[in-house]
Amino acid sequence: MKGIVFTELLEMVGQMKSEDFVDELIETCDLPSGGAYTAVGTYPHQEAITIVMRLSEMTGMPPGDLLRAFGNHLFGRFAVLYPVFFEHVDNAIDFLSQIEDVIHVEVRKLYPDAELPTFDSSRPEDGRLDLIYRSERHMGDLAEGLITGCVAYYGVPHRVERSDDANGSVLFRITRLG
Ligand code: HEM
Repeated sequence: MKGIVFTELLEMVGQMKSEDFVDELIETCDLPSGGAYTAVGTYPHQEAITIVMRLSEMTGMPPGDLLRAFGNHLFGRFAVLYPVFFEHVDNAIDFLSQIEDVIHVEVRKLYPDAELPTFDSSRPEDGRLDLIYRSERHMGDLAEGLITGCVAYYGVPHRVERSDDANGSVLFRITRLG
């Protein structure tokens, strides 16, 4: 998993709590990498899970809630770090329609070792997007947070419905309201 995921996760925890809290979190996780992450490095995906599980123990917040909160935070950071993906895209449904064929394609060019999910999308009617998330890493909660972060970024209310399939894929049905 790319280091940017780790640096942004720890940045969010630092904002929510404190730098001392982040130090304690990392020290008590016993991470193979030692927990010193750089944005361009690559680290075992399992370390992100370890950090989220330990964070859940320390805060009492369920891991899913933490991952959704992180997705929200991360989307805002993507908007700052990768403004090019936001040029000429003025609404959440158009943006989310482009993850698979545009955004993650460019991400892969920047980071050839990125471990990315796949998205199948369809737009059955105006104002509606069905997005099916699939990944060996099963980070549907993170995807949900990124989607609601995207909706919040564009500022127009949408309903985001989620259904998890027994095979591990997650369908998100995103409907513009009003
Ligand atoms: C500007 C927009 C975006 C950028 C720059 C971006 C970039 C990235 C990067 C760098 C990773 C890490 C890959 C790795 O760890 O090896 C990633 C993973 C991921 N991205 Fe995106 N992404 C964007 C938008 C989105 C959106 C809107 C979603 C919404 C569903 C999404 C869903 C995910 C998920 C769930 C992962 C975790 C890996 C997995 O599930 O297998 N991304 N993305």
